[in-house]
Amino acid sequence: PPVGQQGRVRIVMESALTARDRVGVQDFVLLEKYNSEAALIENLRRRFGENLIYTYIGSVLVSVNPYKELEMYSKQQMERYRGVSFYEISPHIYALSDNTYRAMRTERKDQCIMISGESGAGKTEASKKILLYYTVTCPINEHMATLGDRLLQSNPVLEAFGNAKTFRNDNSSRFGKYMDVQFDFRGAPVGGHILNYLLEKSRVVHQNHGERNFHIFYQLLDGGDDDLLTTLALERNPQSYNYLVKGNCPRLSSVSDKNNWKVVMKALSVIGFTEEEVQKLLDIIASVLHLGNTQFGEGEEGETYITTETQITHLAKLLGVDVSALRDALTHKKLTAKGEEMISPLNFEQAMSARDALAKAVYGRTFTWLVEKINQSLALKEIYHSGKGCTVIGLLDIYGFEVLQHNSFEQFCINYCNEKLQQLFIELTLRSEQEEYETEGIAWETVQYIDNKIICDLIEEKHKGIISILDEECLRPGETCDVSFLEKLEDTLGGHPHFVTHKLANGKTRRVMSREEFRLLHYAGEVNYNVNGFLDKNNDLLNRNLKEVMCQSDNQILCHCFRREEVIHQKRPEMAATQFKNSLMKLMEILMSKEPSYVRCIKPNDAKQPGRFDEVLVRHQVKYLGLMENLRVRRAGFAYRRCFEAFLQRYKPLCPETWPNWHGRLADGVSTLVNHLGYKAEEYKLGRSKIFIRFPKTLFSTEDALQAKKPEIVITIQSAWRGMKARRRAKRRRQAAELIRKLIKGFIYRHEEYCPENEYFLDHVRCSFLKNLRKNLPKSVLDQNWPTPPPSLVETSDHLRRLHMRNMVMKYCRRVQPEWKKQMMQKVIASEIFKDQKDSYPQGVGRLFLDSRLEREQINLKVVQTLGNDKVQYGVSVVKYDRRGFKPRPRQLLLTNTFAVLVERTKIKQRVDYTALRGISVSSLSDGMFVLHMPNEDNKQKGDVVLHCDHVIELVTKLAMMAGKVNYVNVSPGSIRFVLARGKEGIIDFVRGSELKVAKGKRGHLLVVSLF
Ligand SMILES: Nc1ncnc2c1ncn2[C@@H]1O[C@H](COP(=O)(O)OP(=O)(O)O)[C@@H](O)[C@H]1O
Ligand SMILES: [Mg+2]
Repeated sequence: PPVGQQGRVRIVMESALTARDRVGVQDFVLLEKYNSEAALIENLRRRFGENLIYTYIGSVLVSVNPYKELEMYSKQQMERYRGVSFYEISPHIYALSDNTYRAMRTERKDQCIMISGESGAGKTEASKKILLYYTVTCPINEHMATLGDRLLQSNPVLEAFGNAKTFRNDNSSRFGKYMDVQFDFRGAPVGGHILNYLLEKSRVVHQNHGERNFHIFYQLLDGGDDDLLTTLALERNPQSYNYLVKGNCPRLSSVSDKNNWKVVMKALSVIGFTEEEVQKLLDIIASVLHLGNTQFGEGEEGETYITTETQITHLAKLLGVDVSALRDALTHKKLTAKGEEMISPLNFEQAMSARDALAKAVYGRTFTWLVEKINQSLALKEIYHSGKGCTVIGLLDIYGFEVLQHNSFEQFCINYCNEKLQQLFIELTLRSEQEEYETEGIAWETVQYIDNKIICDLIEEKHKGIISILDEECLRPGETCDVSFLEKLEDTLGGHPHFVTHKLANGKTRRVMSREEFRLLHYAGEVNYNVNGFLDKNNDLLNRNLKEVMCQSDNQILCHCFRREEVIHQKRPEMAATQFKNSLMKLMEILMSKEPSYVRCIKPNDAKQPGRFDEVLVRHQVKYLGLMENLRVRRAGFAYRRCFEAFLQRYKPLCPETWPNWHGRLADGVSTLVNHLGYKAEEYKLGRSKIFIRFPKTLFSTEDALQAKKPEIVITIQSAWRGMKARRRAKRRRQAAELIRKLIKGFIYRHEEYCPENEYFLDHVRCSFLKNLRKNLPKSVLDQNWPTPPPSLVETSDHLRRLHMRNMVMKYCRRVQPEWKKQMMQKVIASEIFKDQKDSYPQGVGRLFLDSRLEREQINLKVVQTLGNDKVQYGVSVVKYDRRGFKPRPRQLLLTNTFAVLVERTKIKQRVDYTALRGISVSSLSDGMFVLHMPNEDNKQKGDVVLHCDHVIELVTKLAMMAGKVNYVNVSPGSIRFVLARGKEGIIDFVRGSELKVAKGKRGHLLVVSLF
C-alpha cells in the first residue's frame, strides 16, 4: 500500500492517545521498515524504556517482562478497556482479554488465549491478570457468586505446590496448566476446569544449585505455627532436611514464605478444603521431608537396614501406614517370577532410589489430587450440565522453553511441549493464513517461515522418534542403561539434521558436548540433553510392595492416590514420556477447537532486573517466537476477514439496498454494501466466501458507523414493534366488540328455537354450564347440590345427575368391605323398622352392631351341648318379666338360625321357634322393653314373653332378620297389649318421666317410664 495511506491510518489511529503512548508504534504492523528485525527490536526497546511493555502485531499481543510493579492494572484501568476497540486505546493485556470475551459473546464461539515465552518471561503473571480481569469485569451469576474468588484462589494453591524458584525465575511453574473458564449465556463465569501437565517431580528429591524445592515446604517451615510443626515432628530450619538443601538456597529475597503460607491457607479454605483435608495434606508434605531424612546402613552381607528409627516412626504415622510394613517395603522388593512371589533385599543404592521414588510418587499424586479437588470446587453446577448456552475461554500457561547448564528428561519434555505449541501457532496463524488467501483466490506473495514439524516428528514419530526409542529401551529385556539408550538414538537418528551427539558431531561441536549428551536443534535453539536418568524418569517406577503399603494408608488423600486396583492389575502403565505425549495431543485438539488469541512474552534480561534490555537475549526470543514472520504475514496480508454472510448480517443497516434484507447473492450484497460505504479498491478484496479488509481502521470506521446508526435502527425496530402491538390490540378490541354484540342479540332471542341469532349465545350458555358443572360435581352421595341447568339442558342435566350418582355409588360400593356390608345391611333393616318410630333409634343405630353381646365363656357349656348342631348366632343378657306380678328375672337370650331360647344359667327355660313367633312389639319411647307374641290358639300356651334388653334396637333387628319377621315388628306408642297365660290380656303402659322405672301400675298394668 502507498505510504501516504499508512501515514493517514497511523495518524488517525493514534490520535486519541497521549504523547507517552505514542513512543514508537503500538502495532508493529505500522512500522515503516517492517522487514527489519532491528527496527522491531528498537521499537520494543523504546517502549520498554517508557514502561510501555505491551505492543501488538495485529491481534497478537507482545509483552515484555518489566520485572517491577507497574501502575496499570487497577480497577479503573479495567473499566477503561471494557468494550473498547483495540486501536482506540494503548495496547494492554486487558484489551486482549476484553476482545476475546466479546468475541466469545458475539460469535458464541469458544476461545482460547495461548501464552507463550520462555521461563520467566511473564506467562503466569499474564494469565493471572486475564483471570482477574474476568472476575472483576464480568457480570456475576447469583448461583455462582463465589466462583470468581475460587478461580482466583486456585492460583496461590497451585503455585505453592507446583511452583519453585529456579535459576531463571523465582516463581517458576513446574507444571503445565490449561484452565477453562465457562460462561453462561449472559456472560457470567459459572465454572472452571483445570488440566495439569507433567509436574517436575524430580525436584522433590533434587534441586540444582541455586534452586529450591516446591514453595510449600519452605512456606510450611516458615509460616506454620509451633504447635503444627510439633504435631508434624518438624523443625523450623529448612537446612535440617536433605530434600531442601541440595540447591543450597533456603530463602528468597523476592518472596516471603511466611506471608505466602497465610495466603495459601486462606485460599485452601476459600476453595472449600475442610480442616481435616488440610491437615492430611500437611501430613503428606511433612512425610516427604521425613522421607528425605530417612537414612540407610549396610550390613555385613550387603543387606540394607534403616538407621533413622525415630524418623521412620514419624514417617509411618504421617503416612498413616504400619511402621514395620513400611520399613520392610523400603528395604525389600517383591518380585513375581513364574507366578510366584519372592521377596528380595535391596542394596544400599536401590534402597535410596526406592525411597526417592516413594517421595516423588507421594508428592506427584498428591498434586494431582489437589487439582482434582480444585476442579470439584470450580465445577459447573448441575443446572448448566446440559452445557447449553455455555461458552468457554481457555487459558494456556505452560512451562516455557528452557535451556539449563544440565538439561535432563524434564527439559526434554518441556521443550517438546513448546515445540508442539509453536507448531500449533504456525498452523493457526502463518500457514492457515496463507492457505486461506489461496483458497479464497486472493493474489498473495508467500512468506517463508520456519516449519518445525521436522523437529516434532523427530521427537514423537511412532517407532522412529526419540520417545518411541526411549520406551523401547525401557521395556527391552536384558541390560539396559542410559548409555545404551544413547547408542540406540545414534543408530536410529544419526544423520538427522536436528540431532547430534558427541560421537556424531564435528570437532567444534564436540568440544562443547559431553559423551553422555545428545543435542536437539529446537526451533528456539540448540539444547544438549544429558541422558543420565532418562530411563528411570521415563519408567517412573515405584516398587510394588511400597505401593501395597501405601494402599493401606489411613490418610484419605493417599488412600485416594494409591488405588488397590493398581496393585492387583499389574498392567504396566504408560511410560512418562508417552503419557505426556498423549496428553499434549489432547491439548492440541482442545486448542484447535477454539478461536485462538496469543500473548507472546519476552524476557528483557536474565538477571530479573527492571529497566535492563538485553538486546541479544531479546533478539533471540524475537527470532524463535517467529515475530518477524508473524509481522510480515500481517503486513502483506489483510488485518481482518469476515465471511460474506457475517459481514453482511452485521453491517447491512449501513446501506439502503441491503437493509433490512438482501435477497441476491451474498457476494453482490457485500459488494453493494462496501461501495455504498466508499471502500477504496486498495482497502479490501473480495475472496470466494470472505471479504478481506487490509487495515483495521477501515473496519473500525465501519464499526463506528454502525454504532452511530444504532439509535436509528432502534427507532425503526421500536416503531415497527409498537405498530404491530397497536394493530394487534385494535384487532382484539374489534373481536371483543363483535362478541359482545352477539351475546346481547343471543340473549334477546334466547327463548326462540336454535337459530343464527341465538346460536352463539345458547352454545355459550350450554358450554359454560357444562364447564361449571365439571368443576362443581358433588363429591359424595349425601351432597345434594347440583348447578341449575339452563332450560335447554334440563334433561341432560338430570341424566348426568343420575349417572354421576350411580357412578359415585358404584365407587362407594366397590370400596365396602364384607364386614362393613353386613353391618350396613343390619342398619338398613333397623332403619326400616325403627326410623322415626322409636326414640332410641338414632342412638341405637349409631353404635356398631356386635356379632354377640355375650362372650363364649358366658354361655354355659351344658346349654351349648343341649343345643347341639344349632349354633348360637347371637346372645344377649335380658330381663324377663313374669307374667304374674311382673317380677324381673335375669336371663340370657340366645338366637340360633331357627329358634331363640331363654336361658337361666344352665337351664333352657323356654324355646321360641321362629315359625311360631307371631310378632314383636316395642314402644316408641327410649326404653328397652319388647314383647314376643306367641301363638294363642289354645289355652295351653304360656302366653307372650315380656323382656327388657339394653340393646333392644340391635337385638330386635337381628331377631327380626333371622326369623324373617321384619314386617311383624310393631312399634306402639302409649301401650302394648299382650297375652297372659290362658288367653288373658296384659297391658304395658309407656310414659315419659324424670326417672327410669319399670313397676306395677294401676289396674295391674306394667308401667314403664322412660326419660324425656
Ligand atoms: N506484568 C508484570 N508486571 C510485573 N512483574 C512481572 C510481570 N510479568 C512478570 N513479572 C515478574 O516476572 C516474574 C516471572 O514471571 P512469570 O509469569 O512467573 O514467568 P513465567 O510464567 O513465564 O515463567 C514474576 O514473578 C514477576 O516478578
Ligand atoms: Mg509460569
